[in-house]
Order: sequence, then C-alpha cells, then structure tokens
Amino acid sequence: MKSAEAPGADEVERGQRIYTPLVLRAYDVFVLGLSNRFAWRCPSTTMLARYDRYVGKRHLDMGVGTGWYLDRCAWPVEQPEITLLDLNESSLAVAARRIARYAPQTTRANVLDPLPLGNSGFESAAANYLLHCLPGHNESKVATLAANVRPYLESGGVLFGSTILGRGVTHTRIGRRLMKLYNARGIFSNAEDDERGLARGLATCLEDVEIEVVGTVALFTARA
Ligand SMILES: C[S@@+](CC[C@H](N)C(=O)[O-])C[C@H]1O[C@@H](n2cnc3c(N)ncnc32)[C@H](O)[C@@H]1O
Repeated sequence: MKSAEAPGADEVERGQRIYTPLVLRAYDVFVLGLSNRFAWRCPSTTMLARYDRYVGKRHLDMGVGTGWYLDRCAWPVEQPEITLLDLNESSLAVAARRIARYAPQTTRANVLDPLPLGNSGFESAAANYLLHCLPGHNESKVATLAANVRPYLESGGVLFGSTILGRGVTHTRIGRRLMKLYNARGIFSNAEDDERGLARGLATCLEDVEIEVVGTVALFTARA
C-alpha cells in the first residue's frame, strides 16, 4: 500500500507525460469511444450529461485532455468564461484550439500544488479522469486537489468529475489488463483508489459530497 507522503515530481510528471500531440490525436477514439464503453463500462455520454448539468458561466477545467466534453456540452450562456488548467502543454494547446470560439484562458499548473489562478472565481470546476492519473494515496490526493480548487470556487460552486477506481469495483478482463499496464507505467496511479477514499478526501473541505459508481468509474460532485 502506498504511503500518504506527498508524491515526487517524477511521479507527477509520469501521470501526464503520455499526452503527446500524437496520443491526443487518438485519445477521442481510443479512450472516449472504446475504453470508456468496453474497458471501464461507463460511456462518455454519461460524463457528457454531467457536464451539461453542472457547467456554469465561469468554469475551470482541470486535466483537459482534448477538450471533447467542453466542445460538446451545453453551456448555460453563449459565451462562458472558461479556464483550462493542465500540466501538459500539448493538452492545453489541443483543448484551447478546439474551443477557441469561447476564447479560453490557459494555465499550466500541477493540480497537486496551490493553483496560480489569482482573483478568479468559478461557478463550476471539473476534474474529469484526472484523479486516477495523480500519484499518491487515494484520500490525500483527493483532499489536496479539493483544497487547491476550493479557494477559487464561488459560494455554492460545484466541483464535479469522474475517476476510474482500482478497488471495490469489478474490472473486466480488458480493464484489468489496462489497469496493470497503465499503473506499471505511472500513467494511472489508481490501484488502491476506492469510493470511500474519494468521499473522505472531498469531504475534507467541500460539502454535499455525492458519488455514483457506473461500471468502474466513480462520478462525483461536491460543493463549496
Ligand atoms: C486522462 S486525461 C483526461 C482528459 C479529459 N478531462 C477527459 O475526461 O477525457 C488526463 C489529463 O490530466 C492532465 N494531468 C495529469 N496529471 C496532471 C497534474 N498533476 N496536474 C494537472 N494536469 C494533469 C493530463 O495532461 C491530461 O490532459
């Protein structure tokens, strides 16, 4: 079992290194199209419906990938104010280009460090498929992320997202293979992640924590 010590820079780096321009070109088909449905048994439309439901006029997206959800979701206003935050320059560039019509701000940062977002305030913040990429003990990495985003959430603002669990869920054969491969390479660090740790981590500084598990994916919301 991993200790609750803060993860090293190398472990953090391994959680985002894979997202090169080439990998990002295949991401929508391989991850959002195939893996979500067949390996993790939670189709991307389930996550998209939650974007539709929770995104606000001022939105912070952490761990942006290709920006697929941001491109497709239903925004409550024509011109939402969107901030994209990611440690990986390629993810930021691809997502920003994809939703250029909304003129998003971009910030390169590690979500496990205090976030450099100045005086920004957000109605909504998303961490979709980010937590399983983060190294560290389940509950403490969730608590760190929640503490880092909390100062930027407006009162009543929502943090929502999803993460693939390693424990307390039944993985398919293909899911188990991918889990083993990705955890061995540091792409995922979720072998010990479970629903309880997620709930406890979120509850350290947020309220109204709600979690639903679909397939092997925990879908969560919590409010400031
Ligand atoms: C699996 S992708 C998720 C993309 C998208 N949100 C989705 O749901 O499809 C994970 C994203 O998180 C970013 N990431 C990984 N570790 C990070 C960290 N410590 N801080 C900020 N971003 C990170 C990666 O660069 C990548 O863009």
